[in-house]
Amino acid sequence: MQLIDGKAVADQIKQEIAAEVAQIKANGGKTPHLAVIIVGHDGGSETYVAHKVKSCEQVGFKSTKLAFEASITEEELLAQIKLLNEDPDVDGFIVQLPLPKHISEQKVIEAIDYRKDVDGFHPINVGRMSIGLPSFVSATPAGILELLKRYDIKTSGKHCVVIGRSNIVGKPVSMLMMQKACPGDATVTVCHSRTKNLKELCLQADIIIAALGSPKFLKADMVKEGAVVIDVGTTRVPSPLTKTGFKLTGDVDFENVAPKCSYITPVPGGVGPMTICSLLRNTLLAGKKAIYK
Ligand code: GUN
Repeated sequence: MQLIDGKAVADQIKQEIAAEVAQIKANGGKTPHLAVIIVGHDGGSETYVAHKVKSCEQVGFKSTKLAFEASITEEELLAQIKLLNEDPDVDGFIVQLPLPKHISEQKVIEAIDYRKDVDGFHPINVGRMSIGLPSFVSATPAGILELLKRYDIKTSGKHCVVIGRSNIVGKPVSMLMMQKACPGDATVTVCHSRTKNLKELCLQADIIIAALGSPKFLKADMVKEGAVVIDVGTTRVPSPLTKTGFKLTGDVDFENVAPKCSYITPVPGGVGPMTICSLLRNTLLAGKKAIYK
């Protein structure tokens, strides 16, 4: 069994991005600039945004954090998005989700100029990704594929079972894994809460991507010997043993599943650290106008 060290890969990628940014600056090019909008005081969101801003600093990007109270109206937020769309210095920006109930997330996502949508959530980016055109790919699916690539895990012709059908992970990662590309080129089965023979399907999988958000859902008796297991779960489970009072818990019963796997991602330290790298990479691509002119 080999542990997939997402933290080490993420550190490596950050160094690669930092080197490229230094080169751009040395050549008199524009410093990539990411803006992040955060609304309200959700603990998880504040932590994620702080990490994103810090990572920008680490690789030499400019970053701008725009924080608004949860009382901001949808109209006011849409006006802020318009300002960022029109700001020539901002290469890419994201609106951290979730948003307060009175604001439509879909409206917000669609208000973002797709050429600055470094989260890859805009329907134009999702659609282009689905048909294999250059696009901003959302962070978690891109991070998963990058891990498979860097560990040289063969995916062509393999049976990949994705558990979960969210717009952020399950749907895009299943599209990418079936794409005629490397990584990709797999036979993909997407399972979800209504799937009847989930255990039977998982037992046929060469690669399992668990992204349903249910702690320790994937048990050892659902995994075939030698499978690759990618754990996307990050549920905060209360724990008296940590300073923060919670423990990040994956969708895989790691202790019992790991001995059966050829490769497995831990939680934390697997897919998680890769997601910020994907955001940085998209921002770099946006800065270079590599996808859209
Ligand atoms: N909330 C949880 N994950 C994400 C993400 O990747 N992007 C944004 N904007 N919000 C999130």
